[in-house]
Amino acid sequence: MVQLSFFEQVPPKSEIINVASVPQRSPFRYPGGKTWLVPYLRRWLAGRSVPARPAEFIEPFAGGGIASLTVAFEQLAGHVTMVELDEEVAAVWKTILGEHGDWLAEQIVNFELTPESVETTLAKPAHTTRQKAFQTILKNRVNRGGILAPGAGRVKSGEGGKGLKSRWYPRTLQKRILSITAIKERITFIHGDGIKVISQNAYRKDSVFFIDPPYTAGGKRAGSRLYLHSELDHRELFEIASRITGDFLMTYDDAVEVRALAQQHGFDFQVVPMKNTHHAEMTELLIGRNLNWLR
Ligand SMILES: C[S@@+](CC[C@H](N)C(=O)[O-])C[C@H]1O[C@@H](n2cnc3c(N)ncnc32)[C@H](O)[C@@H]1O
Repeated sequence: MVQLSFFEQVPPKSEIINVASVPQRSPFRYPGGKTWLVPYLRRWLAGRSVPARPAEFIEPFAGGGIASLTVAFEQLAGHVTMVELDEEVAAVWKTILGEHGDWLAEQIVNFELTPESVETTLAKPAHTTRQKAFQTILKNRVNRGGILAPGAGRVKSGEGGKGLKSRWYPRTLQKRILSITAIKERITFIHGDGIKVISQNAYRKDSVFFIDPPYTAGGKRAGSRLYLHSELDHRELFEIASRITGDFLMTYDDAVEVRALAQQHGFDFQVVPMKNTHHAEMTELLIGRNLNWLR
């Protein structure tokens, strides 16, 4: 049994990753986003537990996709596959990785953002995937915490009293979207069930999986407010992960139930420090087959 104490966190608390040092490549501000994990991701993929440069990097719960984007930009794997179930989030990735990334970037820089234009745009039915993509990016920027799930409120005052506009950086978003379109051949997007995709690809020795599921087990219900799709059979996910023949890295809230599942499946786990969006220090659990590269 792996015993962890507060003092066994990796790295020492003084070395908590400064997210400002990680290139922000996603057009989303994603609740539960893993920008803070990027340095670990690089260490993992460069580490000895994986043959150098895996052929495929698969992210079954992609959300804002910072992990996939980092791997694609830095060519840490031969190819990247992102999977996401949420229709709105999927519309954004289909648009950027399809034929209409330029259109989306253009819409964003040409949009006159006012409280009225936001409400009218978001109330209109979207007839095309790209229209849905634009609405999703807008909603992600004007909703508190970037939350897209039903019931999320709008940003009230925001940075420097800028209100709704406080997270609307059209030029930055344009630049990020166009940069992704420039490397889109490296990425495949699947609108579907991440568990199914892991199961279908588990036999591939040359593939690695980065698994960051919505977490609602053990009485922690945060995931259910953040995402439309938050219910998941975590036991099933662990079962399927144990069939992966390549390698995987999972991240979860540190909860007793999660540690128990990891132990039952013979996985290694390690607590790592992180800062949440409110800059509070927290911990998360990294789970893998062998996390020696982390220690
Ligand atoms: C913790 S978030 C991932 C955040 C992501 N790692 C990031 O950095 O932005 C979990 C995501 O899984 C998605 N999701 C939930 N159930 C899913 C399923 N069965 N298949 C694929 N995606 C799913 C949610 O919509 C949410 O976007």
